[in-house]
Amino acid sequence: MRILELKGVSVLRGNSWLLKSIDWVVEEGERWVIVGPNGAGKTTLLSLLSAQLYPTVGTVQLLGETLGRVDVFVLRPRIGVCSSHIARRIPGDERVCDVVVSAVRAVIGRGREVYSETDFLRAAQLLREFHIEQFADRRFGTLSDGERKRVEIARALMGTPELLLLDEPGAGLDLAGRESLVVTLAELTSNPTSPAVVLVTHHMEEIPDGITHALLLADGGIVASGVVNEVLTSELLSRTYHMPLRLSHLDGRWAARADTVPCSRVVG
Ligand SMILES: Nc1ncnc2c1ncn2[C@@H]1O[C@H](COP(=O)(O)OP(=O)(O)O)[C@@H](O)[C@H]1O
Ligand SMILES: [Mg+2]
Repeated sequence: MRILELKGVSVLRGNSWLLKSIDWVVEEGERWVIVGPNGAGKTTLLSLLSAQLYPTVGTVQLLGETLGRVDVFVLRPRIGVCSSHIARRIPGDERVCDVVVSAVRAVIGRGREVYSETDFLRAAQLLREFHIEQFADRRFGTLSDGERKRVEIARALMGTPELLLLDEPGAGLDLAGRESLVVTLAELTSNPTSPAVVLVTHHMEEIPDGITHALLLADGGIVASGVVNEVLTSELLSRTYHMPLRLSHLDGRWAARADTVPCSRVVG
């Protein structure tokens, strides 16, 4: 089954087109990164992929269903989402294992819902996979930003989704937090049993080794999309950010910086 297919998708909000004529296909087993400047439309695109938004024009097919012709409440549980928008709504005094387990009821902040032994076993397994089992009984608000991020990803995977969406998971992390997140993401994207992944990031350094495909987005339109090594080039990235950039790929890690022309003459 095809994970997603967007055909001629545009999104109009107020007087502006936030997305313009997007054609994009994601096949099973692919791990995508979406890169683009602030305001490019990345989060808007993820809102379509999480069945939270309908396109103004065009068709969005997700996991074999067409948006507009499917009950989104049936479709949404098949898609895991990790975003700061959701994270902000998690109560700081919630126990970490409850933050994760409550995802099966699509609840943020555990109430009186009943969970099965299988649910708790699944949550415990995820905490182990993300190396955060020691925090199971800690309050979410007492964790570091990096630890929280791993809890949020575990939560997004709780319902065994077929598609996992990560919107800038590295935002706000310090160097150690970011580096351990990249390791976590690399484990996730390299694991053949993981669902299809779409990761949004600004920072080339956050792209994990297991990413197979990339989509560059600027001003609501696709600059390039396809196999990661063909799309992540200095030229295409420069076009995406409207500035000369030099991209490097060393030891499986990407990095980008401004391509400055050396100043050979001092004007007195
Ligand atoms: N509900 C909305 N109404 C009008 N404009 C919006 C709305 N949501 C987002 N935008 C605008 O759409 C553009 C793309 O936003 P967004 O998808 O969040 O970009 P990104 O995630 O790439 O930074 C931004 O200029 C933003 O201000
Ligand atoms: Mg965004």
